[in-house]
Amino acid sequence: MKKKLVSLLTVSAMTMSMLAGCGASGSQPAAPSSEPAAEASKEEAKADTATDAATDAATAAESVAETATAEAGNADLADKKVGVCIYQFADNFMTLFRTELENYLIAQGFTKENITIVDGANDQATQTNQIQNFITQGVDVLIINPVNSSSAATITDQVVGANIPLVYINREPDADEEARWDSNGWDVTYVGCDARQSGTMQGEILVDMGQEKIDLNKDGKIQYIMIEGDPENVDAQYRTEFSVKALEDAGWTVDELDDQVGMWDQATAQQLVANSLSAHPETEVVFCNNDAMALGALQSIEAAGRKVNEDIYLVGVDALTEALEDVIAGKMTGTVFNDHIAQSHGAADAAINYLTGAGNDHYIGCDYVKVTTDNAQSVLDSLK
Ligand code: BGC
Ligand code: CA
Repeated sequence: MKKKLVSLLTVSAMTMSMLAGCGASGSQPAAPSSEPAAEASKEEAKADTATDAATDAATAAESVAETATAEAGNADLADKKVGVCIYQFADNFMTLFRTELENYLIAQGFTKENITIVDGANDQATQTNQIQNFITQGVDVLIINPVNSSSAATITDQVVGANIPLVYINREPDADEEARWDSNGWDVTYVGCDARQSGTMQGEILVDMGQEKIDLNKDGKIQYIMIEGDPENVDAQYRTEFSVKALEDAGWTVDELDDQVGMWDQATAQQLVANSLSAHPETEVVFCNNDAMALGALQSIEAAGRKVNEDIYLVGVDALTEALEDVIAGKMTGTVFNDHIAQSHGAADAAINYLTGAGNDHYIGCDYVKVTTDNAQSVLDSLK
């Protein structure tokens, strides 16, 4: 587990140490207390990951140097064909992810002509066809961001049946599916973050500010509205659950006024939040499962004549540039950096490890970073 994490952690480790220097509180996610037994060993591995992050930071530079030397000699990557399936191009976060992925693959020695990235247009049938086409074309490795995580077993069977190594990204297949890769010894892995951590951090951003501040009407409860991403997606499920859980774990009482599905989309969220705010003017907190929706929420908050951090609080996830600028300007309370750089590099490195025969673990993790006014500028600078 450790070895495969090193290169992935490089960016995170650098980002984190940089952020630590800028006064970030550096909190870790609370370990979920009631986990299904089947998840236990993976959770241990993830907990190790968090601890290892700090330890490995010191040795990361050295290992990176080794990796770079090994990869510099990898001229044969130039004839390898990579197929990349993205669930939907019209997704702000996945756009950052795929751009970085392509650039990094090229930097590692693949040629642009041999990298094909396709848009699943948020339709599983379309994506399944695209995967079939990649198989027919004989790509050497596939990187897949599934439209429906629940289709992973079918996708895996299709790809493994064609003897092509497979790297899943962003939408994590369930524990049973991941266990199958392991027990069959298949060249299949998942690269991504644990969405529980991002939800927990969203809640902690508010907890760190103190209940006194957030409980605007002083009734001893936090009135909130929740805007969810695609409910089929584990990121949406966990962020919804763990953001609120962090408030409860701090001993706060919560009062859910509304819970709506914004499908990760800014315009949808804008409409939903406009409706919610007029039905529930007593709203104190707007939780959005991602920044695109938080940007939509902000438009409606402003249209309703409200002021973030004065008479309402707003948190998102991703650390999109626009959201970071809003945090700096005090128009968003906070966000959580969803490290598309570490994840895209990790996915490319995993693909390379399959091509060179080095192999991979079946889960490659990554840490989120809490973002508030304290560190938003340094996160923004690190992304330039
Ligand atoms: C991101 C969202 C994105 C989704 C796509 C999440 O991890 O936070 O912004 O829409 O992935 O699956
Ligand atoms: Ca209240």
